[in-house]
Amino acid sequence: MRRREFAMPEGIYLDGNSLGVMPHAAHARVQERLEQWKTQAALGWEGWFGLAESLSPSVARLVGAQPHEVIATGSITANLHALLSTLYRPEGERRVIVATALDFPTDLYALAAWAERGGGTLRLVPSRDGHTLHPEDLQAALKDDVALALFPTVLYRSGQRLDVAGLTRSAHAAGALIGWDAAHSIGAMPHDFHAAGADFAVWCHYKYVNAGPGAPGGLYLHERWHHLTPSLPGWWGNDKGNQFEMTPGYRKASGAGAYQMGTPSILALAALEGALSIFDTLELSEVRARSLVLTDHLIHLADQYLPEMNVVTPRLHTERGGHVSLSHPNARALSVALRNLGVVPDYREPDILRLAPVALYTTEAELEEVVRLLRNLLDSGEHLTIDLAGSKVT
Ligand SMILES: Cc1ncc(COP(=O)(O)O)c(C=O)c1O
Repeated sequence: MRRREFAMPEGIYLDGNSLGVMPHAAHARVQERLEQWKTQAALGWEGWFGLAESLSPSVARLVGAQPHEVIATGSITANLHALLSTLYRPEGERRVIVATALDFPTDLYALAAWAERGGGTLRLVPSRDGHTLHPEDLQAALKDDVALALFPTVLYRSGQRLDVAGLTRSAHAAGALIGWDAAHSIGAMPHDFHAAGADFAVWCHYKYVNAGPGAPGGLYLHERWHHLTPSLPGWWGNDKGNQFEMTPGYRKASGAGAYQMGTPSILALAALEGALSIFDTLELSEVRARSLVLTDHLIHLADQYLPEMNVVTPRLHTERGGHVSLSHPNARALSVALRNLGVVPDYREPDILRLAPVALYTTEAELEEVVRLLRNLLDSGEHLTIDLAGSKVT
């Protein structure tokens, strides 16, 4: 779709749901900002001061929000703590936080810590098959003792996509707040957090948005909560108009920007700036359409040529995100063997090979070649000769 705008590494790259490849625009923006640092030093702050806020219109487009409802800052973990510290308000019997047994661990660490601090408990929606969540189980967890729920938009292992609008309605009907971890959907499909009425969301920009390793994360806070004062304030979340008056009292910025804490990394924001410039020129519905063409193709190839690998990603378009997960008892060895052959897949314990065809740069021919290589490996048993001791698979 836009392959020429990326520095494609050698071989076949199917790990864009872990770390997206470098857009040339990101490289160029970082170089520009480096040059400004070199030539202007502290005077550069004149142009850098409102950099995160200046990206909000582009970020808001990705998540379906108003620009003042989002900010590029922190990381998923840090943003989750910042939002939970403010939004989790246990009262009487309503103290439970709901998440799922299949969530990315950092979310669970943060949620468990805040539940404990608030005298509540963390209720995990169980999985019936170890890969996916059943809609009835998600609904059943949203009882009237729930103060707050956090769900993933797309599950990081299986790629199952949840119903943001429906579950947001259910949480609100139960009297709970609801937030979303959009790490595995942002940049791969459109979102509509504001219209869905979601209370908050967190995500990273290093996967499908391609803003680089450790890129600033993102947070969304519905404007209905903008009257709240962040419980973990910092001077970067102060109203920009009087931040440098250096008064002892914190005067929060008017929107989601209030949840910034300390001085942001301008070089990291520069890479995000470049990465977002590509999305500014794209319709997210077209990104999603291309992603579905690629994942349909990959699932079809896997069904046809890799019958011993089980596609654990749901089949329906409405129920899956941007990657395809194949389970196999030797998934780890297969992942290492593929790397030795110049393919970068991604492995998740205990038996999942995750393959992410990215709408912006993956081709059908690459998917066909990877399936051919996997077939050869399974037939030859070559992967079984790999010494896995010490091999690090990320
Ligand atoms: C769903 C999900 N949440 C959170 C994270 C990581 O959070 P952080 O950006 O704070 O490292 C990841 C990382 O891959 C993830 O997939």
